Amino acid sequence: NRFATILAGGGGTRFWPLSRQEMPKQLLNISGNDIMLNDTIERFNGVIPMENTIVVTNRSQAVLLESVMHTSVQSSNILVEPVAKNTAASILLAALFIEKNHGDSLMVVFPSDHHITEEDRFRKTLDEACNIAMETGKIVTIGIKPTFPSTGYGYISCNNDPIMTKPCNVFEVAEFVEKPNFAKAQSYLESGNYLWNSGMFIWKTSSILDNFQRFLPRLYKTMLPLMDYIGTDREEEMINDIYPLLQNISIDYGILERCDEVVVLVGDFGWNDIGSWDALGAIFPPDEYGNIVKASYLGIETRNSIIYGEKRLITTIGIDGLIIADTKDALLICAKDKAQEVKEIVKMLKEKG
Ligand code: GDD
Ligand code: MG
Repeated sequence: NRFATILAGGGGTRFWPLSRQEMPKQLLNISGNDIMLNDTIERFNGVIPMENTIVVTNRSQAVLLESVMHTSVQSSNILVEPVAKNTAASILLAALFIEKNHGDSLMVVFPSDHHITEEDRFRKTLDEACNIAMETGKIVTIGIKPTFPSTGYGYISCNNDPIMTKPCNVFEVAEFVEKPNFAKAQSYLESGNYLWNSGMFIWKTSSILDNFQRFLPRLYKTMLPLMDYIGTDREEEMINDIYPLLQNISIDYGILERCDEVVVLVGDFGWNDIGSWDALGAIFPPDEYGNIVKASYLGIETRNSIIYGEKRLITTIGIDGLIIADTKDALLICAKDKAQEVKEIVKMLKEKG
């Protein structure tokens, strides 16, 4: 039995001011197709039964999420976290939920902030990843050939000989490095031996629970008592009691970097993490001056810029390489190569209250 777990509780702070705590980017329609969460749900249709979709979200987003999410997801499959404790906690919660309700099962974890252009190829790769996870009992990731020295991704180096070449290349993972600094990222890119971690994970619930026990024993022990209450009328109350006590760590630092039972499938399906404003360049074709414009707009001598607006007319003269994002109550003007730092503004705003 295959289950999908979608992580949809992140703040998406690098997409401020469009993305807000109560209206994070996974609930926004950035691609022009549908909200990112629904694009995610649609994407694995045919590989994982739609009714086996579990969504883990945050309390501050839950009401809105239920109102805009695809109706194929049953409300009993929406797990609500009272506080954000990062992805390890969310994944453990979902793994216990699946294990309790269905026994040992295949589990696929999807972030909700990705864009994929070749969805059929993606589904083929995913189906293969599911088969490999079932056969080997290992942790399976999907790797993407890197194109620039991103410091926002995990990097994977592989053992030389593939353990499988058909229908796609599969390698044992030699090393997993989460979010390296720029110098390291650059050397990984130049070496040609590294892949990006796409952030999708495929495993059996029994395998990942073993890994939690081994590498995150404190988190595991704190969360485990919840198992008895899943599916009872005290489930929510227990989640609320336990969550504040949990360790805040991502699955990448917590398990992937430490575990040596990881394999990677090389994926090639037009993958993009729509992490920050500059990523719009990957999903929308620029105009003849290199601009991506989603606004009512008029410009002179404006190049290589990203211009997003809602109501007001935006006009620019003689600018190059800027991000301009205008919403009804806030305006961002940011150098394109500083797009990752938008989250610092959000942090400062939070501190100011
Ligand atoms: N429910 C819930 N609770 N979801 C969360 C939480 C949480 O506390 N924190 C993050 N998420 C969700 C986000 O909404 C997103 O869909 C997903 O989990 C991944 O979190 P990000 O915060 O976007 O991670 P990242 O992009 O910095 O890094 C991860 O993804 C990269 C690829 O996009 C890592 O796995 C990297 O190794 C990877 O390269
Ligand atoms: Mg992300």
